[in-house]
Amino acid sequence: MGRKTIIAGNWKMHKTASEAVDLAQALESGLKSDLALLADHLPQIVICPTFVSLGDVAKTLQSGRIALGAQNMDHRDSGAYTGEIAPPMLTAIKVSHVIIGHSERRQYFGETDQSVNLKVKAALAHKLVPILCVGETLEQREANQTDDVVTTQVKGGLADLDANAVSNVVIAYEPVWAIGTGKNCDAQEANRVCGLIRKVFGGMFGESQAQALPVLYGGSVKASTIEEQMQQSDIDGALVGGAALKAEEFLPIIKGGAGRVQARSLAKA
Ligand code: 13P
Repeated sequence: MGRKTIIAGNWKMHKTASEAVDLAQALESGLKSDLALLADHLPQIVICPTFVSLGDVAKTLQSGRIALGAQNMDHRDSGAYTGEIAPPMLTAIKVSHVIIGHSERRQYFGETDQSVNLKVKAALAHKLVPILCVGETLEQREANQTDDVVTTQVKGGLADLDANAVSNVVIAYEPVWAIGTGKNCDAQEANRVCGLIRKVFGGMFGESQAQALPVLYGGSVKASTIEEQMQQSDIDGALVGGAALKAEEFLPIIKGGAGRVQARSLAKA
């Protein structure tokens, strides 16, 4: 099956516009030098700087190898919504992806499955690829609620969509307790939950859509963890926070993604 491998960097609230441009440039030159031999096997690479850096970073990205994502957006097209950013403003500056429902947005900015659902629909309507984030807290994991929480978030985030509409959706499984903590979710367990996400998606939209769905893992991904993660059958890439902020840490993670692309093409041959 030809599922995409995706390595995405969520830069969160880090870096000024000029620092963001520097990092984007360092990634582009790293792809041309360190990773040149892997040019035919690169995963899809997405970087997600803050809103105020998107325009400058868009102008910096020249190779066509790195796609640009936002970390959030409003679901409406325009209007009196002070402080918000609308989907057409993103597409106008070559943003192709948008992270939706990150746990930090759910935790600190009151996002719910309902608001996440509106944003996913708006992203799809504007041909932006939504990277829908789901994942349980430590408390929920300890209470054995992981599967229920993730299932509810997938169903809620993708409610009222039909199978034709969801072919661009990407889902990221990010256990909240693994984010920024250095505590990686065990690769087999992450794979199990990513498989559950695929199953829930399949129940909603059909098996062929489920087999094409990229499911990413996020939560303390590093160069030292990516290889094992990329060997899992149901983990199609990574959504990386802290380790995406330095080219020397993110490039080896991209390389890990390329390893998966290569392994998959050998398996097909
Ligand atoms: P860390 O990689 O810093 O744990 O963050 C993960 C994350 O939240 C990506 O969206």
